[in-house]
Amino acid sequence: MLADKDRIFTNLYGQHDWKLAGARARGDWDGTKELILKGRDWIVNEVKASGLRGRGGAGFPTGLKWSFMPKTSERPCYLVINADESEPGTCKDRDILRHDPHKLIEGALLAGVGMNACAAYIYVRGEFYNEGLHLQAAVDEAYAAGLIGKNACGSGYDYDVFVHRGAGAYICGEEMALLESLEGRKGQPRLKPPFPAGMGLYGCPTTVNNVESIAVAPTILRRGGAWFAGIGRPKNEGTKVFCISGHVEKPCNVEEAMGIPLKELIEKHAGGVRGGWDNLLAIIPGGASVPLLPKEICDTVLMDFDALREVKSGLGTAAVIVMDKSTDVVKAIARLSYFYKHESCGQCTPCREGTGWLWRVMERMVKGNATVAEIDMLLEVTYEIEGHTICALGDAAAWPVQGLIRHFRPEMERRIAEYRKDAAVRVA
Ligand SMILES: Cc1cc2nc3c(=O)[nH]c(=O)nc-3n(C[C@H](O)[C@H](O)[C@H](O)COP(=O)(O)O)c2cc1C
Repeated sequence: MLADKDRIFTNLYGQHDWKLAGARARGDWDGTKELILKGRDWIVNEVKASGLRGRGGAGFPTGLKWSFMPKTSERPCYLVINADESEPGTCKDRDILRHDPHKLIEGALLAGVGMNACAAYIYVRGEFYNEGLHLQAAVDEAYAAGLIGKNACGSGYDYDVFVHRGAGAYICGEEMALLESLEGRKGQPRLKPPFPAGMGLYGCPTTVNNVESIAVAPTILRRGGAWFAGIGRPKNEGTKVFCISGHVEKPCNVEEAMGIPLKELIEKHAGGVRGGWDNLLAIIPGGASVPLLPKEICDTVLMDFDALREVKSGLGTAAVIVMDKSTDVVKAIARLSYFYKHESCGQCTPCREGTGWLWRVMERMVKGNATVAEIDMLLEVTYEIEGHTICALGDAAAWPVQGLIRHFRPEMERRIAEYRKDAAVRVA
């Protein structure tokens, strides 16, 4: 379990002042000028040494990503912070925005120095109305105190921070769709390459990072990359904010060490599964997009990128959705299929047509109004979608269905048999 002294987000529950005075009392903006003056390479190397992997879902090493930004550039360089947070079950960035916005703004400045950016754009999910107000108020405070803007923190570095509100579309969390939306166009992903570090926002070198990835950076730089790397397991280092929801006694967000056993995470922080651990049916460990895991795997699995990949799931956004035995698991996954069908931007045929097809077949699977051969066809179609689209929304639609078939096929077959039996009785 994470020691209190290793906690980065000391105001996760909003019990303290989120404004500048409160943030300073908690250690934010302490020695920021000195950190800036250590220079770009020092910042990037320290973040590399910390082992930090992106907290937006894909887990790409953050320091390495920053190092892709050009050493010199005639065009301005930008940091774009992804605060779109629309993955079902995920609500960690929201708490950072509303309770600890200065951590994010200080992180935006330091990360900006690390990539020689002149400005950060923070793209905030449309529905986060109040969170956007806190964030903008904190940005205004930081400008007024000389922490950002011209000669930020008295370091000689000029840096702007802009808050941009989205209009509430899941696809706009995908980094290339986000850039399109920021530029005022319809939020549809662009093909890669070119990658954002070469040609991103307004055609300029850009890095897109998740809110949590940026908000942990100041503490990493103050305490040292080695400190962060000392928490968790190799290649899965540091602390992580987990969002625990569903059939638990006390749903919560909690910052824990990466690699904590899933069972311990739920029992220590969320009051355990409703009705006890033995009443557990399955858990989605990393937000709606990752395959669910049945209880037998949840008994022992660790919560980090590699451990979850080994059991054919993923850490994703670390949103832990707990389902007890009262759950209609086929219906739950069918509901997710509806979400992906609804949120598909329609640009790629496999996703536009496939997500609707998955949802319609899943609705029949809920009732059992299908054939056993259609379970195989359903699986086959997920493989036709996965990896065949411009962005990963197609994969996100495919994986929950694959997880269901992998672990709950007998339940799907049982429903089909029951439906047929009932139909036969009706005919007779
Ligand atoms: C459909 C879709 C939605 C996404 N939504 C988010 C989001 O809300 N927030 C986020 O940080 N990343 C989201 N991502 C991942 C981003 O594309 C990108 O990988 C991430 O912002 C990079 O930040 P990181 O390296 O700090 O993790 C989404 C990806 C896809 C395919």
